[in-house]
Amino acid sequence: MADGTTLMVSVGSYLPERVMTNHDLAEMVDTSDEWIRQRTGIAQRHIVAEGQKTSDLARHAAERALEHCGLTGSDIDLIIVATSTPDDTFPSTATKVQHQIGATTAIAFDVQAVCAGFVYALDVADAMLSAGRGRRALVIGAESFSKILNWEDRSTCVLFGDGAGAVLLERCEAVDDFGILASRLHADGAHRDILYVDGGPSSSGTVGHVRMEGNKVFRHAVEKLSSVMDEVLAAADMTVDQVDWLVPHQANIRIIEGMQKKMGLSDERVVKTVHHHANTSAASIPLALAAAVGDGRVRNGQILAFEAIGGGLVWGAALVRYGRPNGQ
Ligand code: UT7
Repeated sequence: MADGTTLMVSVGSYLPERVMTNHDLAEMVDTSDEWIRQRTGIAQRHIVAEGQKTSDLARHAAERALEHCGLTGSDIDLIIVATSTPDDTFPSTATKVQHQIGATTAIAFDVQAVCAGFVYALDVADAMLSAGRGRRALVIGAESFSKILNWEDRSTCVLFGDGAGAVLLERCEAVDDFGILASRLHADGAHRDILYVDGGPSSSGTVGHVRMEGNKVFRHAVEKLSSVMDEVLAAADMTVDQVDWLVPHQANIRIIEGMQKKMGLSDERVVKTVHHHANTSAASIPLALAAAVGDGRVRNGQILAFEAIGGGLVWGAALVRYGRPNGQ
């Protein structure tokens, strides 16, 4: 493996214009603003417009990440889109983005790890850059979950939203204690049945809808997330005290606060966007990061902890010192 460091130098995000509130949902299914807020923390979610595709969301997020560091598509060698809601069964959403942003020499493919898609794609990109497969990568989480919801099933349709976030990674000479410091991933297919989509090309030949036994997923969440967080901290030889921000997957405020409590973090050290974005699956971490970088909470050189769990089950965590060593 080539000696070097993978920096996370910028972030961009995009949310579709249309906002759907809990009150809007209460007119569609037997639910209430009070139930949704109390059980999930969600107040609203963004929903794609007619004809707007996952690749459109991904493209906007990618362009913003590029703009923030003065680069263009031609500077990119690798594009990974983490998504479970691709435009089409094939070709990949990443190849569409590659074409749209003019990244003509970039390798492009999708990663499918549902809500853990961003931490999975980040690890894959880091491994490829460190193996010499290019200098700069865009890792994009993009989802149009509204397209795979059963809008008559109140136990799932209130939970998800659409959006995209992208980070730009840059491989440079070895710099101690900067960039991606550690990353750990896990999978356990024995729990497939508690969170899945009841359709697919080789099963039903349809797209299908999300099905979830939420309370079962919930029971796995904090336990698995805190255990993988311990693993990455140990791998980076760090303690929780050194983490400036937990930027968690945004599925449910109770899971986020469960992790916050386990890690002993104050409110000032946890980024929470679930209220406004709902669960955007693979997009939720980069969307949360973009919000916190955008409003100045996350600053260059700070240590970020990412964690996520999703259907599979799959889960993972990563520790990153954000930005560039010289602050430029
Ligand atoms: O990102 C991927 C990973 N996914 C997750 O992390 C999701 C994890 N799970 C959760 O976030 C929670 O389990 C949910 C928010 C999905 C559900 O919360 P819960 O506290 O586990 O509720 P529950 O599923 O046990 O349901 C409690 C009650 C049930 O009624 P009864 O049987 O007690 O009469 C449900 O029918 O709430 C009812 N219910 C609703 N009521 C109003 C379920 N959905 C709704 C709803 N509005 N939308």
